[in-house]
Amino acid sequence: MSIALIILAAGKGTRMKSDLPKVLHEVAGAPMLVHAMKSAQDLEPEKTIVVAGHGAEAVGAAASAYDETAEVVLQTEQLGTAHAVAQAKEALRDFDGDAIVLYGDTPFISPATLQAMCDARAAHDVIVLGFDARDPGRYGRLVMQGKSLSKIVEFKDANDEERAITLCNSGVICAKASVLFDLVDAVGNDNASGEYYLTDIVEIAQAKGLSATSVTCDESETLGVNSRAQLAEADAIFQAKARLELMEAGVTMHAPDTVYLSHDTYIGPDTVIEPNVVFGPEVTVENGATIRAFSHLEGCHVSRGAVVGPYARLRPGTELAEFTRVGNFVEIKNAVIDEGAKVNHLSYIGDAHVGPRANIGAGTITCNYDGVMKHHTEIGADSFIGSNTLLVAPVSVGANAMTGSGTVVTKDVPDEALAIARTPQVNKAGLAVKLFDILKKKKFLKTKGAV
Ligand code: UD1
Ligand code: CA
Repeated sequence: MSIALIILAAGKGTRMKSDLPKVLHEVAGAPMLVHAMKSAQDLEPEKTIVVAGHGAEAVGAAASAYDETAEVVLQTEQLGTAHAVAQAKEALRDFDGDAIVLYGDTPFISPATLQAMCDARAAHDVIVLGFDARDPGRYGRLVMQGKSLSKIVEFKDANDEERAITLCNSGVICAKASVLFDLVDAVGNDNASGEYYLTDIVEIAQAKGLSATSVTCDESETLGVNSRAQLAEADAIFQAKARLELMEAGVTMHAPDTVYLSHDTYIGPDTVIEPNVVFGPEVTVENGATIRAFSHLEGCHVSRGAVVGPYARLRPGTELAEFTRVGNFVEIKNAVIDEGAKVNHLSYIGDAHVGPRANIGAGTITCNYDGVMKHHTEIGADSFIGSNTLLVAPVSVGANAMTGSGTVVTKDVPDEALAIARTPQVNKAGLAVKLFDILKKKKFLKTKGAV
C-alpha cells in the first residue's frame, strides 16, 4: 500500500515565545518537523504534505531540505485539526493509497508504531494512535467498545465518565486518503472550541458504517512540545535513548549523561567517548577511535583508531584518517588529515590537506583567509612543521620537508627542503644585566611617586 504523510505544522506555538515557527525548534540538532518526517521514513511515503501556516516559508524550506519532494500547503487560518487536514486534499487528489496524519510538534512516534498502524488497516478503515496516559490531563479520550473505537471526545466536550478514561488520543491517524478527506469534509465546528476537530471523523466513520480502532504506543512516543521546557525535556529523552543505543552497540562512555548527541550521530563500536563531548550534526566516528573530554565535533568524519582532544574542535569538512592525533586546543575546519598525521597542540588547520605521518608543531596556523577569500594549504607526507609556523595560503609544503619554528611560510616549500623565515638571532653580551638595572631603577622611582 502506498502511503502519503500529512504533517500538521501550521500552529504558531505561542508558548514557545519565539519568532521561529514551533516545528522548526530543534531536538538533537534537527527541527522537530524533520524528526516527524524521519519517523515515517521506513514506510517510504510516496507523498509528504506539510500543512504550514505561521512561518510557512521557513517550514517549507526545512521540509524540502530533508525531503525535496515534500510539498507544502498553506492553512492561512488555524480553524482546527480537521480543517488543517482538509488543506492537503487538493495535493492528494490523485493519490490512491493510505494517508497518515502526524503532528510536526510530536517528534518521537516510532517507525514500528507507524508500521503497526498501517498493518491494522487490513482490518479497519480508520486507525487512531492512542496511549495510556499517566496523567490524561486535557488530551482527547478514546471511547472504545471492545476492539472498536466508537468516538474520540475532546476534554472540553467530555462528560465525567469520559474524562475518567485514560486511553488518550495522540493525534496520529491513518485511513485511506480519499476516505479521510470525505470524513473531514463532514466535520462541523459545533463544539466547545468552535474548531473543526479531526477527532470527529471517528464518529462520522461509524455512522457511515466504516470501522475504526486504536493502536497503542508508549506514552513517551507521543510527547508533544508546547514550551521551551518541553523542548528541553524532548531533547533529554532523545539523548538518553541515543546514548543507550550507542552503548548497546559497543561504544564506551565514561559519563554518558554529559555527552550530547545529534539526531544523526554515528559512532562505531569500541570507540571511547570521554566526558563532556558535544556531537553536532553530521558526525561519523569509526571503530576504535577515542574522543577525549570537552571536544566539540560537527560535520566531520573520524576514522578508526584516531584520538581527538581533550579540548579539540572539529568543524564541518574535517576528515581524520586512521590513527591520526588531534590534541588539545586544536581547531580543524574543511581539512583532510591523512593517516598517522599529528596535530597535537594549539593549532588552527583550515582549508588544508595534511599528508600522511606529517607532524604539525604547536601553534601552527594556516592563514587561510585573506579577508575576502579562503585559500588552500597543502602539507606533504612525512613533513615536519615547526612550532608556531604560519602558513600563508595558498601555499604548499612538500613531502619530507621542514619548517623552522616561527617561520612565516609565504612561498611553496619544495620536497625535502627546510624553510626558515625569521630574523636571525643576535646575542649582545652583558646587555641583559644592564637592562635589568635600568628597569629596576625606573620601578623604584615610580613607587616613590617621582615619575
Ligand atoms: C489534539 C487532539 C487531541 C489530542 C491532542 C494530542 C484534536 C481536535 N484534538 O488536541 O484529541 O489528544 O491533539 O496532542 O485534534 N494544527 C494545525 N492547524 C490547526 C490546528 C492545529 O496545523 O488549525 C496543528 C498544530 O500546529 C499542532 C497539531 O495540529 O501541531 C495539534 O493541534 P493542537 O491545537 O495542539 O491540538 P490539541 O488541542 O492539543
Ligand atoms: Ca497540542
